[in-house]
Amino acid sequence: MIIEIKEKDKLLDMLNKALGWELRAHAMYAHYAAYVKGLESVPLGEHFEEEATESIGHAKQVRDIIAQLDGTAVTDRDSTAIVHTEDWKVMLEEALKTETTAAKTYKEIMPLVKEHPVFTHTLMHIYMDELKAVDEVNTLLGK
Ligand SMILES: [Fe+2]
Repeated sequence: MIIEIKEKDKLLDMLNKALGWELRAHAMYAHYAAYVKGLESVPLGEHFEEEATESIGHAKQVRDIIAQLDGTAVTDRDSTAIVHTEDWKVMLEEALKTETTAAKTYKEIMPLVKEHPVFTHTLMHIYMDELKAVDEVNTLLGK
């Protein structure tokens, strides 16, 4: 498919950055879902499982856009280390850092796709999901 997009290389770099963070988010949430203990394991285990699933969905959408742009999608997650912990507050602080970075990445992508309404629509939905996730984690942390 021929898609005319200005700054296509920059857009592909940013989309691959977002994809790497989605792959990392999936690994992080799946890990925390397995290690969350005690009373918190019921609501938080469910929350982490949902976020892990959402990350797979976001990754698919971003990967599909990269492919439509004839770019090469990354297959490795972002190299930022995933902190192992059994302390749910640390898990949520790590989730907050991840969601904040994801939201910031999509915010930077939005102006690069402004001439492409379909990509704008898809990426805006993902961006909104990340903003909602930031709010949810802040609520769970009592902030
Ligand atoms: Fe996401």
